[in-house]
Amino acid sequence: MNCKEDQKVSISTFGKEVCQGLSAAPKYLSSKYFYDQIGDALFQKIMALPEYYLTRAEYDIFKTNASAIVQSFDKNQEGFDLIELGAGDGKKTKILLHELQHSHYDFTYMPVDISQNAIDGLVENLNQEMPGIAVKGQIGEYFEVLDRLHHMSDRKKVIMVLGSNIGNLLHARAIQFLQKLRQAMHEDDLLFMGFDQKKHPQKILDAYNDPTGVTAAFNKNVLTRINKEFNANFDLDQFMHWETYDPETGTAKSYLVSKKEQTVHIHDLSLQVNFKSWESIHTEISQKYDDDIVEWLAEESGLQILDFFTDKDSDYKNYIMTKTI
Ligand SMILES: C[S@@+](CC[C@H](N)C(=O)[O-])C[C@H]1O[C@@H](n2cnc3c(N)ncnc32)[C@H](O)[C@@H]1O
Repeated sequence: MNCKEDQKVSISTFGKEVCQGLSAAPKYLSSKYFYDQIGDALFQKIMALPEYYLTRAEYDIFKTNASAIVQSFDKNQEGFDLIELGAGDGKKTKILLHELQHSHYDFTYMPVDISQNAIDGLVENLNQEMPGIAVKGQIGEYFEVLDRLHHMSDRKKVIMVLGSNIGNLLHARAIQFLQKLRQAMHEDDLLFMGFDQKKHPQKILDAYNDPTGVTAAFNKNVLTRINKEFNANFDLDQFMHWETYDPETGTAKSYLVSKKEQTVHIHDLSLQVNFKSWESIHTEISQKYDDDIVEWLAEESGLQILDFFTDKDSDYKNYIMTKTI
């Protein structure tokens, strides 16, 4: 294996990460590369699956508590910027946006996502559905956007991260993410973040392993992207989706497992990848939490929990946090 480092053509971050991940032992790829036009559409299908309780739980929390949630965002009615990291199609966010608009709050909605397709779709949809709202979409990766966040707004900020997106980061990386968020926050700024909670392990496994194969197709979309964007020849039928959940650590993990010994050529990266039979590529983590873990993460990051909202089954919680002074 070798990656095309000596060549003049500059490789995108995606290309570099593909090289690193597929040259490592064990192999890995980041779930942030699931999302393009196809991946976004597959994720929308996942959100509609009966097994994928996360979206329904957060949707119910917002439907039941919309008024209390938006009141907590801007108690003094001084106006604020609502910055959402990893916004996706914004389906649940729209409940809050409607409530904010209906109650005449002064706010600008700033969705950020790594997927250009997601941001374009969301901004267009909001311009049509809620034309009265000021929307400024941005394409970017969380950590890179956080570097810019300081300068993005001089008004009060409410930063939202929904869908338990933080669960894609192992605790050490999640703490770095929260610390960066803290650095970007002023004294009165708020963080509104969804954390999927520990529950019956089977319910968690089922959420990432639907019988119709939508989740498998979503997981394999990273290979489809590598085929398309780097002229590679992954045979999708020769890889299978595999999910695990460890109730001790609260970590669900997705893998793509090679069904046979095979070699894949990624021409544009000058990379040849050899797979042994049943060798895995780790593609995603979906961390599950409880109050103690969220409190620990907050403490480690210089944040404190002010309040939280949950659904009737306590499957999911949205916490409101602020900077510890
Ligand atoms: C699991 S979806 C959730 C979408 C939305 N928050 C929701 O709750 O429905 C994750 C979203 O975050 C985006 N995303 C994933 N990793 C990202 C990263 N590292 N930086 C920016 N956006 C990211 C994806 O493109 C996708 O739209």
